[in-house]
Amino acid sequence: MAKLKVGILVSGRGSNMAALIDAAAAADYPAEIACVVSNVADARGVTTARTAGIETAVIPHGGFPDRETFDRAVSGVLERHGVGLVVLAGFMRIFSPWFPQHWAGRIVNIHPSLLPAFKGTHVQQQALDAGVRLSGCTVHFVIPDLDSGPIIAQAAVPVLAGDTADTLAARILRQEHRLYPLVVRWFAEGRIRQDGGRVAVDGAAATLLFSAEP
Ligand code: GRF
Repeated sequence: MAKLKVGILVSGRGSNMAALIDAAAAADYPAEIACVVSNVADARGVTTARTAGIETAVIPHGGFPDRETFDRAVSGVLERHGVGLVVLAGFMRIFSPWFPQHWAGRIVNIHPSLLPAFKGTHVQQQALDAGVRLSGCTVHFVIPDLDSGPIIAQAAVPVLAGDTADTLAARILRQEHRLYPLVVRWFAEGRIRQDGGRVAVDGAAATLLFSAEP
């Protein structure tokens, strides 16, 4: 069966992108990384993707008169590569409403908190400030409202005494690297169903991962 073509959008480090590239290297993985698009020319993720032999496109947002024109340019690249799923992996650019509407049901994001808690940026610090004992990451469909789309899966980790935003971020990131390839696999296998605002995954043992690792 033909593999699902995935387009990944990055702005920075690209460790989630790298986890997906690694997963897709397995012969039995049902998705392939068709292209990586970045709005930041010197993003580390772009170098990593090129080194892995993935097609990359750099589209600096500064050259566009407005958000939607930029979004349409990005979309054009994804469509030329036959992308069936857009994966946001640390893409630090707010879309015009047009982009998530155009890709509705075919665009996912990973966010380093247990949504709907702690949206936006500096979320690990937000979690520490709130004193929660549990945090984690969320993979969700993308809608025009930031960090608000239907939740597909989450991974939970403890918040430990003595944690800083950095130690908590590192603990969560390890789970991001497990969760994102799993969700992309489910999507490629056609197992994710949206029912109103709720998402069901056919045949998945769990859509919540736990890790007690410090
Ligand atoms: C991750 O923490 C992800 O959850 C958030 O941005 C960060 C990207 O990290 N959306 P990386 O570029 O994948 O290493």
